[in-house]
Amino acid sequence: MKANIYIETLGCQMNVVDTERAFTRLCEAGHDPTASSKSADVVIFNTCSVRARAAQKVFTRIGEVLKDRQGNRPLIGVMGCVAQLEGEALFDGTAKIDFVVGTGATDRLSGIVEKALEGRKRVLDLGERAVEGAWSVSAVARHSPLVAFVPIIEGCNKFCSYCIVPFSRGREKSRPAAEIIEEVLRLRSEGFREIHLIGQNVNSYRPGTDAGLEGIAGATPFSRLLRAVAKTDMERIKFTTSFPRDFHKDIMTAIDENENLCDWVHLPVQSGSDRVLRAMRRGYKIKDYLEKVAFIKSARRRVALTSDIIVGFPNETAEEFAETLHLAENCQYDSLYIFKYSERPGTAAANFADSVSKQEKAERFLALESLQHKIQKRVLGEYVGREVQVLVEGESARSRLDLTGHSTCHKVVNFPGHPSQIGKVVKVLITAAKENSLYGIGLAS
Ligand code: SAH
Ligand code: SF4
Ligand code: F3S
Repeated sequence: MKANIYIETLGCQMNVVDTERAFTRLCEAGHDPTASSKSADVVIFNTCSVRARAAQKVFTRIGEVLKDRQGNRPLIGVMGCVAQLEGEALFDGTAKIDFVVGTGATDRLSGIVEKALEGRKRVLDLGERAVEGAWSVSAVARHSPLVAFVPIIEGCNKFCSYCIVPFSRGREKSRPAAEIIEEVLRLRSEGFREIHLIGQNVNSYRPGTDAGLEGIAGATPFSRLLRAVAKTDMERIKFTTSFPRDFHKDIMTAIDENENLCDWVHLPVQSGSDRVLRAMRRGYKIKDYLEKVAFIKSARRRVALTSDIIVGFPNETAEEFAETLHLAENCQYDSLYIFKYSERPGTAAANFADSVSKQEKAERFLALESLQHKIQKRVLGEYVGREVQVLVEGESARSRLDLTGHSTCHKVVNFPGHPSQIGKVVKVLITAAKENSLYGIGLAS
C-alpha cells in the first residue's frame, strides 16, 4: 500500500539525519514524502527528550495536527528519543498512536508503516540499529541541497548526571572511517558544498578498524579522521559537538593545516564551577577547559568558539552561578545556548536534593543571557570591516532583497544579492553586526 508520509523533526542533528534516512527507506519502498501534515496518510513525529515533559509535548502536537484534519484521521507514529524511552507506554497516553519506532529502528520504518497501514494496532520496534549500510541517505532526502550532516559516532558513554541521551541513544558506536570518507566523496560529487561531521561527542570517535585512516598521521582517531576527510577536498568541513575532556590539541593543528576545516569549535562547558562540574560528572575542571580554549584562541585563523551552559543545576549556589558568569566573560563566546536545568527521571541528578527555586533558575537564565548579549555585541562587532566567505543558502526570511547563508565561522550572514547567487560561495564584506547575525555587501563569487 502506497502512502503520503509527513515527518516532523524535533531535537538535534542526529534526529535530522534519522528523518533523512527514514525518508530514504520509505521512498525506496514506494512511499512519497509530503511537506504538509494536512494531506498526509501517515504523520510521524521524530522526538527529542533532552528536557522534561517531552512525551506530553508530543501528545499536544498530535492534538494540534488532528484538529486540522476534521475527522480524516491519518496514521500517527512516534520515532526518536521519546519513542525509545517511553516505548509501549506511549500507546496508553492521551493521544491514539499507531506505531512507535525506537532510535535503532529507523531503517525498518517502512516495514512498520506497512504493518500499520494493513490495520495492525500498536506496532512497536525498539530493536538495535542494523550494522551494514544503516547510514546511507539519498541526496533528495537531505534537509538541504548544499549542506549535509554526516554522522560519525552515535550514542554516548559519558553519563553526565543530568542527561538522558545515553539512555535514548545507547552506547557510543563509531562508523568506520572508510565508510565516512566514501559518503563525503559521494556528497561532493552530488554537489554538496559543506558537511558537518556530527555526533553527541565527535572527538570521542573510536572506530573498531583503521580502514580509511591508513597512512594518516594524528594524535587521536578523530584528528586523523579530520585530516582524512580534509583530503577529500570537500569545500567546507564543520564538526559538532566536541566533548571538552577529549578535546586534543591536535584537532587545532589539523585545522591550522587544512583550509577546508572550518574556523568554528562548539565546546559545551555546562558550568563555570568546579563543584557543579563534579556533580554533573563532566570529568574536567575549569582549569582544564580553559587550557583547551587557549589552544582554540591561539589557532592561526581566528576560530569561533560556541558553548552550552545549564543554569540552576541542583544546589547551584549564587557564588557558583557567579563563577559561570565569570567563565562566560572569560571565554567571550561567539554564541551560547543557555538551558535551565530540567530534571530527567532515570538520570542520577533526578535524585539530587535541589535548593534552587524556579524563580532563581529563571533569573539566572536572564542574567547569563544578558551578559552573553553584551559579549556577542563585542565579538560580532569585531567582524565589521572584515571579509567572510558565505555559502548562500537562500533568500532571507526578513527581506526578499537579501540573501542569507553561513560563514565558515558558522555565523548567519545576510547581504543584498540576486537569487542566482544561491548555492554559491560569496565573499562578503561585513558592514554591521546584528544581535545574532552579521550584515554585509557581497564582493565576488
Ligand atoms: N554531548 C554534548 C551535549 C548534547 S545534549 C555535550 O556533552 O556537550 C545538548 C545540550 O542539552 C547539552 O549541552 C546541555 O547543555 C543540554 N542539556 C542536556 N540535558 C539537560 C537537562 N537535563 N536539563 C537542561 N539542559 C540539558
Ligand atoms: Fe549527555 Fe554528557 Fe553525553 Fe553530552 S556527554 S550527550 S551531556 S551524557
Ligand atoms: Fe534530543 Fe535525542 Fe538529540 S534527546 S538532543 S534528539 S539525541
